[in-house]
Amino acid sequence: MATGGRLGVESAAPSTTVRIFRWGALALIAAVLVQAFLGGRGFFLADDDMLTVHGRVGDALLLVAIAHVVVGAVAFRRRQLSRVPLGLSVVLLVLVFVQLSLGYGSEDSRSAAAWHLPTGVLIFGLAVANAFLSGAVAWAPPGPPGGAR
Ligand code: HEM
Repeated sequence: MATGGRLGVESAAPSTTVRIFRWGALALIAAVLVQAFLGGRGFFLADDDMLTVHGRVGDALLLVAIAHVVVGAVAFRRRQLSRVPLGLSVVLLVLVFVQLSLGYGSEDSRSAAAWHLPTGVLIFGLAVANAFLSGAVAWAPPGPPGGAR
């Protein structure tokens, strides 16, 4: 029986690769939440140390996002993961790179700083979607109305 929904993982017992991919999806959600905390305190309480940590966590997030795509690609090649969560992880990698660039650009550009916040929210939303679609969160895709087939 398939787990993780039609769009996600197709095998019954998830392989180690798929498990790592799922944990990566959950880690990304937690990390972006932590980033919002650090960035908010760093900026609004003018805490430079918090902002420095925020920047370093951001650097690490890029590596996590790269590893996530690699693990997803391996699982995809082994037919353990469908293209939707893999594609989302690629989109997330691009967005994390954009987010890093906006973050480092924010000192000189208020516009970059302004884009940094909605991009963070977008990353968070897509990371949540990826957790569902990869089967990290148990879910069932909606069936036809009234349970008809
Ligand atoms: C993938 C997620 C994120 C990455 C990679 C990232 C990266 C960065 C980087 C590299 C900086 C510059 C730090 C420095 O100058 O030392 C920065 C600044 C900042 N970030 Fe983020 N960030 C992320 C998410 C967020 C989120 C979710 C929020 C809040 C909702 C946020 C709020 C801020 C703020 C307020 C600043 C300071 C901007 C300024 O000084 O003008 N960040 N971020």
